[in-house]
Amino acid sequence: MKYQDYYSNVANKISPYQWEEGIPSNALRFDTNTLPFPPSCLPEFFKKIKNDCPINDYNDPKYSKLKYLVADCEKVEPNMISITNSGDEAIDVLAKTFFNPGDNFLVTPPSYEMFTLQCLINNGNLIESPLLDKTYDVNYKDIIEKSRSKKIKIIFLCNPNNPTGTVIKINTIEEIINKSGSIVVVDEVYREFYGKSSVQLLKKYNNLVILRSFSKFGAIAGVRVGYLISNPDLTLKFENIRLPLGVGYLSCKLAEYVLKYDKAGMRKQIEMIKLERKKLSEEFSKIGFTVLPSYANFLLVKIGKNAEKICGKLKQKGIIIRDRSKKKYLEGCVRITVKSNKENMFLIKAIKEVLNEEEKKII
Ligand SMILES: Cc1ncc(COP(=O)(O)O)c(C=O)c1O
Repeated sequence: MKYQDYYSNVANKISPYQWEEGIPSNALRFDTNTLPFPPSCLPEFFKKIKNDCPINDYNDPKYSKLKYLVADCEKVEPNMISITNSGDEAIDVLAKTFFNPGDNFLVTPPSYEMFTLQCLINNGNLIESPLLDKTYDVNYKDIIEKSRSKKIKIIFLCNPNNPTGTVIKINTIEEIINKSGSIVVVDEVYREFYGKSSVQLLKKYNNLVILRSFSKFGAIAGVRVGYLISNPDLTLKFENIRLPLGVGYLSCKLAEYVLKYDKAGMRKQIEMIKLERKKLSEEFSKIGFTVLPSYANFLLVKIGKNAEKICGKLKQKGIIIRDRSKKKYLEGCVRITVKSNKENMFLIKAIKEVLNEEEKKII
């Protein structure tokens, strides 16, 4: 017997999440949807942790303090919070909690690809309800119909949606929660750049789960902390399914520190990004690119048939943007993270240079 014969069907079938490869360490990255600056409380945190760092021991497996702080921010009870090692792990926990092999889940492409990947890894079966042409609105009637006819276990809604930056009205989300027979997961990782949340619907509906991550609002993507918000029964199940100690001590403490001491810093950085989003969008329009109105910290920009070439030329200059131009529903598009004014202007200058070099007309 060869060891290759032991791979599971899933291991044989799955292709991993695609990151850009061959990126120089000093590259300017507009492809990660992260904030440009680490939290302002970071130096103080390191000073404190230097003298109080029991990492020879295990972390508190309940993450009680962090749970309490998160619950306070979200205005829910601590028994409605399950802390996970990133938003991505939260998706894995959801799939593990709900799927028997072959159970259906629904996504609304183009959306965050990890919903599909993590659910396929956990033996879920993919059903799609594509966003509507041009507006990228959800087709909520189709979602509700499929939820019933195909016995969908989990519906993933992304609000704001990655990669389009578009949003779903809260009353549309409520209609889907109310009329579908599914668990509805609302990914609110980019909530702060939009300002609206479905959390208040948890009081009314037991089939709602909200997904969150410190990567975006907390500017600590590197330490990998996320969480799920749901009714206490579901939360208990997530707590049973997740790894007992998936989140490391340092990650946990930094997440606590950010919530305790950096709320003003976070708000400032988020407000700056919202302002820059408008400016950057205007700059792209001036160049002649079509920009979708965005409620997140990134823009979906339609460049047209030269998109791949322009991404390649920018990469040669050490600038990385997310090429989505060959993806279904996103033909000719790139996704660009909004960063600081200085970085954004650097990008615009580089794009203009590339266009001049190419002397090509862009759609
Ligand atoms: C929509 C969405 N959800 C979840 C995540 C996962 O975030 P993380 O795994 O960094 O917590 C991301 C990351 O880009 C995302 O775009």
